[in-house]
Amino acid sequence: MLGLPKENLRLVKADNHKMSVAELERMITEDRKKGMNPFIVIGTTGTTKTGSVDPINDIASVAKKENLWFHIDGAYGALFMLTEKGKEVLKGIHLADSIGFDPHKTLSLPYGTGCLLVKDGSTMNFDYISDDSYMPPTPTQGDHDYADITPELSRDYRGLRVWLPIKTLGIAPFVLNLEEKLKLIEWTEKEIKAIPELEILASPELTILAFAHKNGDAATRLLMEKINNRGTLFLSSCMLNGKLAIRICLLAFRVHYSRLNTGLTEIAQMAKEC
Ligand SMILES: Cc1ncc(COP(=O)(O)O)c(C=O)c1O
Repeated sequence: MLGLPKENLRLVKADNHKMSVAELERMITEDRKKGMNPFIVIGTTGTTKTGSVDPINDIASVAKKENLWFHIDGAYGALFMLTEKGKEVLKGIHLADSIGFDPHKTLSLPYGTGCLLVKDGSTMNFDYISDDSYMPPTPTQGDHDYADITPELSRDYRGLRVWLPIKTLGIAPFVLNLEEKLKLIEWTEKEIKAIPELEILASPELTILAFAHKNGDAATRLLMEKINNRGTLFLSSCMLNGKLAIRICLLAFRVHYSRLNTGLTEIAQMAKEC
């Protein structure tokens, strides 16, 4: 959407699934020497594969020093700020210039309710704002016209899908769900560690963990097929440093201890057969 070609995107290496800040600094210097103009750094608070949280304070320092916009992809993780543990893990998130986050993930709300927070609203005044005579007048008091800050003119009322459940139920049940999932994933990790055929590839920082079968990728793939065919749990897979991993992501408000317990008993049994 920004019209930036893929070649201009630079991926920063990770140490233990987190952005290497030394590498980030090295790449900025290298790019500037080549005459390029880095202008944004994007960190992730809760990566898709492992739920890892990048070192946000350090990235923010580099961004400030190098005069870069600092965006955080918090699609999955940012809303853990609602929890005590999240506030610790995500310390420094306020240093970002912008944060994307998805209530349709972390608050179990209907799909398509992604949000963007920007620190300085005036940065959202784009050139395409139209003042043609057929346009309704822009709001004068406080609020702004969303048509001026998004690509859409006629648009769906997406905010209602977030506003209404929170207005009706309050925020407490959403927080409780996340607190429950944080406890459950800790317990899940212990259970998986106790299964001799399995190994943890990424410990959970929030509510995602990745594990594999010790017999290698074929066994891991077979195990995942068996689990998903059973239907108690639905797990996804990803490649982690060249190794196939099974990924558990706990968010859904219908997943509780009893279902996980049944699923993990099945996993322990199936792991022996792979
Ligand atoms: C870290 C992260 N960013 C972005 C996305 C994409 O989110 P969406 O499908 O809501 O656009 C995901 C999806 O899993 C994600 O985990």
